[in-house]
Amino acid sequence: MAKQIVMKLTVVLCAALVSCVIGGDCDCMTEWTYDGDVDGVMESYEGCSATADWNQTWCYVQGGSNCNQALNSTVAGETRKWRECGSCNCMTEWNYDGDADGVMESYEGCSATADWDQSWCYVQGGSNCNQALNSTVAGETRKWRECGSCNCMTERVSGASAAPATA
Ligand SMILES: *[C@@H]1O[C@H](CO)[C@@H](O)[C@H](O)[C@H]1NC(C)=O
Ligand SMILES: *[C@@H]1O[C@H](CO)[C@@H](O)[C@H](O)[C@H]1NC(C)=O
Ligand SMILES: *[C@@H]1O[C@H](CO)[C@@H](O)[C@H](O)[C@H]1NC(C)=O
Repeated sequence: MAKQIVMKLTVVLCAALVSCVIGGDCDCMTEWTYDGDVDGVMESYEGCSATADWNQTWCYVQGGSNCNQALNSTVAGETRKWRECGSCNCMTEWNYDGDADGVMESYEGCSATADWDQSWCYVQGGSNCNQALNSTVAGETRKWRECGSCNCMTERVSGASAAPATA
C-alpha cells in the first residue's frame, strides 16, 4: 500500500515537474493555422506538428512571450510565438479508455492508467519518435512510450537547437 502511494506521488510529482517545464504558457495551441506550403492559404494544425516547410515538429505556444522558450516568428507581422517540439515528448493532454467502460478518461503527460500501473503517454511526434510503439488499440494512430519512474524529466523542452528526440 505504502509502495503504491509512493508510486502515485512519484507520478504526480513527475507530472507536476513536467508541466512546470513544458506546461502552461509553453503549451502548444491545440489548433492553429499556418501557411506551410506558401500557397497563400492557411492550413490547420493541431498541437505539435510538422509543416510543409519544415520536417521538425513545432507549434505556436499558448502564452505568447510569457513562454520563456518562445521564439519570434519569421513571418512578417506574426504576433504568435512558437517553439520546437520533441517528437518523444508526451502529449500534455490525451484521452484513453483505461477502464474499458467505453468512455475516454483524460490524462496529462506521463500517467498510469486503470489498465496499467506503469506510467506511459502518447508522444507528440507519433512515428517521428524513435522510441514510440504502436498502440494495441485497434485503429489507434497515436504512438506511445513508457515513461519510467521519472524519465519524463529528461524529455523536456530545450532550446531552438533541440535534437528531434528531445524537446
Ligand atoms: C521531409 O522529409 C522527407 C522524407 O523524410 C523528405 O522527402 C522531404 O524533403 C523533407 N522536407 C523538408 C522540408 O525537409
Ligand atoms: C521578438 O519580437 C519582439 C517584438 O514583437 C521584439 O521586441 C524582440 O526583441 C524580438 N526578440 C528577438 C529575440 O528577436
Ligand atoms: C506499426 O504500425 C505501422 C502502421 O501504422 C506498421 O507499418 C508498422 O509495421 C508497425 N510496427 C510494428 C513494430 O508493429
